[in-house]
Amino acid sequence: MKVAVIGVGHVGLVTAATLAHFGHEVLGLDEDASKIESLERGVAPFYEPGLQDLLDEVLGSGKLRFTRDAARAIDGADCAFICVGTPARADGEANLLAVEKAALAVAGNATGDIVVIQKSTVPVSTADRLHLMFAKATIHNVRLVSSPEFLREGAAVEDSLNPDRILVGSDDPRAHELMKELYAPVLGDSCRYFEVDIHTAELAKHACNAFLALKISFANALARVCEASGADVDAVADIMGSDHRIGREFLNAGLGYGGYCFPKDLLAFKAVAGRLGYEFGLLEEVIKINRGALQAAVDKIKDALWNVESKKILLLGLSFKPGTDDVRESPSLNLARALTRLGANVVGHDPQANKFAVRELPGLQVVDDLYEGADGAHCIVICTEWPEFKDLDLVRLKGIVTLPIIVDGRNLLNEEAVVGAGFSYIPTGRPPVNL
Ligand code: UGA
Repeated sequence: MKVAVIGVGHVGLVTAATLAHFGHEVLGLDEDASKIESLERGVAPFYEPGLQDLLDEVLGSGKLRFTRDAARAIDGADCAFICVGTPARADGEANLLAVEKAALAVAGNATGDIVVIQKSTVPVSTADRLHLMFAKATIHNVRLVSSPEFLREGAAVEDSLNPDRILVGSDDPRAHELMKELYAPVLGDSCRYFEVDIHTAELAKHACNAFLALKISFANALARVCEASGADVDAVADIMGSDHRIGREFLNAGLGYGGYCFPKDLLAFKAVAGRLGYEFGLLEEVIKINRGALQAAVDKIKDALWNVESKKILLLGLSFKPGTDDVRESPSLNLARALTRLGANVVGHDPQANKFAVRELPGLQVVDDLYEGADGAHCIVICTEWPEFKDLDLVRLKGIVTLPIIVDGRNLLNEEAVVGAGFSYIPTGRPPVNL
């Protein structure tokens, strides 16, 4: 099939490359000139494991091409994916301006009947607006589909090539037939295919992200009680997780959830529920606990350092999670902001995200060599659980820091090894050691 993908960010680019890998003719459209320029040179504009190899393959075969010209992208397309950003407005509602613009680009440039697949995360009933808009803006028949994406950054290529589920929502039977054809090569034994009405698909995406965030906030609330009582939050999570009805994933306490999706999706889900007449107070609590997780880390650092002013604090990990260079809504950067406000001298190090961290937080000092950052530090904080931080040379670190204090915001390190090397160790959700 001939496919247009509008918006080649984390979701759009991976979707475009996957569809091209499975043999479709794909044109990626984006208004960001630097992104398209980079892709035309064959270079992925962000780090995602496996993405560059996949791009090499589909650019080589000619199945994937890029353009900034909407008419070129939409001309003759059987379907168009909308994969643009839906950031939060000040009142929490999703800002759907980019979705509207993308839909208008399809309507204005369609050369025949077309299937429009809404992949951006949007509040339930967005499809109604799109239906109205298409009815006015084009003479062609637009079959509308909501097919939210469930891929995780850091594992996006793997998730996209081997999805655990495909969700297709539409009120148009012919659109369902076409979507089955389009997705046919991706459907393996381990992939469930959900064919539902369009509102169910829109809402299911918000429900999934909200529930995952709820699990994380539950773990973070538990962590506070564990710290106060002397219990161990990881052991509690293991015990809970061994009950298959609960499951162990997303019960890791830490600095809270971040990233482009959960923070805005929680706000948007709460806002749309309120607009529909249901006050979803549980979501408000999830958001509050998430803020509390970061504040708990700030309090521990303050406690350990006494006066934070002018103390050097090294933050290890700046991306919102390992395996990505994405720093949007990163808890690490929020921690950097909070500590800077307290007068600390904050230095950051990330295996991939240094460049984007400085762009997001100008003035943040970053180092490529973490030992350079640790030189003279009064406190080291593990913010993101990059695997390479597990192998810190603790003896070397002990020799160069001013104060041997490690705050482990992700419970990544081996407590015995850290304490054995002479550090005070302040983990998350269990009592500090050697303070
Ligand atoms: C999330 C969902 O997991 C995907 O299914 C979804 O497709 C995506 O949002 C989206 O809507 O596009 P992602 O934002 O890539 O994916 O990241 P997650 O792996 O979900 O992690 C989100 C945040 O939660 C990170 O900051 C992570 O550190 C934190 N987290 C995760 C915890 O603090 N504890 C956990 O146990 C798990």
